[in-house]
Amino acid sequence: MIKNDHLTESGSWLRELVEKGPEVGMVLGSGLSDSLDSLDNPLEINWKDVPGFPTPTVKGHKGKLLFGEIAGKNVMVQQGRLHWYEGKNWEEVIFPIRLQKLMGVEQLIITNAAGGINKDLEPGDLVTITDHINFSGDNPLRGKNDKRFGVRFPDLTDAYTADLRETAMEAGYKLGVELEEGVYVMTTGPSYETPAEIRALRTLGADLVGMSTVPEVITACHAGMDVLAISCVTNKAAGMQDQLTHEEVMEVTAETNEILGRLIEEIVGLMG
Ligand code: HPA
Repeated sequence: MIKNDHLTESGSWLRELVEKGPEVGMVLGSGLSDSLDSLDNPLEINWKDVPGFPTPTVKGHKGKLLFGEIAGKNVMVQQGRLHWYEGKNWEEVIFPIRLQKLMGVEQLIITNAAGGINKDLEPGDLVTITDHINFSGDNPLRGKNDKRFGVRFPDLTDAYTADLRETAMEAGYKLGVELEEGVYVMTTGPSYETPAEIRALRTLGADLVGMSTVPEVITACHAGMDVLAISCVTNKAAGMQDQLTHEEVMEVTAETNEILGRLIEEIVGLMG
């Protein structure tokens, strides 16, 4: 069980090390951790060395924090993330997002691997998330409200900040990278969905499905952060292709890392 004091403990420890507080934060998800390997003036820290930081358990998750600069802006990059399906509790899952907030991050770029529910989406596509459906059956803010971060009943109407989505489109246009837009639904995993679930989720209006991001976005929105979330489509969702494997997900993310990294750099450069 993570206590809130662990957040302040991690925050104080990091502030001693990091000279310039980050303005822009990032979460690089499954297999996408390598997309930003060349920050200016980098400082790399393993999660396990940060007092109070919860530990990840999944292969392909790097569990590092990077501090440095992109296009002259100070950034904080979370390589890897903690998932509900690992058996983590919500406090652990959202810990790194709150830590980013404590470090000063006001604009957060979140990436993930996702299955394409929309029939037009193909593996390798990059999609800006416009909205979400929380199918986790729970909410990371359940329990006593932590007033340091935000109000009891946060509004999610503009959770996916329109200005940042426009900036992403502009960056994509500049680089010649086509960005789709779509609604993301979170299922808990770790099993992939059934074909019947995917048909149902499509009827509900979802374009993408994945096992993360939603709790992070709710937490970031609660804390007043602007959010941009980008999915890398790694597969067609269950029932739309022969089989789903984690290996395929990792293969497609590995191929997409470089272009996603260039896109993020361009976006950060264009951010106000
Ligand atoms: N479902 C859930 N999570 C995923 C998928 C999927 O099809 N692909 C990558 N992450």
